[in-house]
Amino acid sequence: MSLISAAPSPVGHLSDRHFRSIAQLIERQVGIRLPPGKRIMLEGRLHKRTRALNYSDLNEYVEQLFTADQLDHELTHLIDVVTTNKTDFFREPQHFSFMREIAVPALLSVRGRRTCNLKIWSSASSSGMEAYTAAMVLDDMIRTGSRFQFRILGTDVSTAMLQLAKEAIYPRDALAPVPENLAKRYFLSSVDRSRQEVRMVPELRRLTHFMRMNLMDASYPIDRDVDIIFCRNVLIYFERETQRKVVEQLCTHLRPGGYLLVGHSESMIHSAVPGLKQVQPTIFRV
Ligand SMILES: C[S@@+](CC[C@H](N)C(=O)[O-])C[C@H]1O[C@@H](n2cnc3c(N)ncnc32)[C@H](O)[C@@H]1O
Repeated sequence: MSLISAAPSPVGHLSDRHFRSIAQLIERQVGIRLPPGKRIMLEGRLHKRTRALNYSDLNEYVEQLFTADQLDHELTHLIDVVTTNKTDFFREPQHFSFMREIAVPALLSVRGRRTCNLKIWSSASSSGMEAYTAAMVLDDMIRTGSRFQFRILGTDVSTAMLQLAKEAIYPRDALAPVPENLAKRYFLSSVDRSRQEVRMVPELRRLTHFMRMNLMDASYPIDRDVDIIFCRNVLIYFERETQRKVVEQLCTHLRPGGYLLVGHSESMIHSAVPGLKQVQPTIFRV
């Protein structure tokens, strides 16, 4: 018989008041809207955190959250819990074809003979698959004769996702959308075969950096001559005015002629941003 009793499983639902206070906090901090329809989802995600902290009830967790010294520390975890981090290698693959066939040649053609160092920014990078997909495509272009160098920055508000992105270790299944020749070239298999994991090769990890950045911040600590910004599948969580502000601010970090790529359900965002030209439904240029 075990003498260690399991932590009691948190029960119950969030009260209206507690749901509202969490929803307001999250929207203020990271822009993500949590309308009443998301309540069950939020409760489900908070259960795990509540259990980890040994609270017996979701409402107790929220009460504690708002006590003086808790919030700063707990907010990082709360953000990890409420963000939706779904991503894939080669997600929305036409963006990577566009980058290879149109965007990079166009960006190189205006730089003349100078060695060109392209800057790519994955601005809601999740676990890094978007940034590493760009790295694979660009490196493959160089191997097949294009003359440029590149650096990639991935930013996200979720600390847990950034940790995964830096480690660059993924389940082998995640390679399904990666063309076979690229998967062979750019991923190392775990020495322990039973782990079914792969890791991005160090050559591309060295060119890809990750740091925490909140798209809601009043200014972004990022260069102002970025060539291509990916901002995909994050704007949908923001309300319209927040989307507009974020896109407007992102554009101030693009070099003239630079590209902004958004997710397929986000194609309408450009209308209120001056100077942004639509090239394709989800591709914009300044
Ligand atoms: C659904 S994932 C999209 C990942 C990737 N861009 C893609 O399309 O595959 C959304 C990401 O946006 C991040 N995110 C949400 N709000 C954010 C904010 N205010 N600032 C920065 N990142 C944010 C989440 O942590 C999550 O990793």
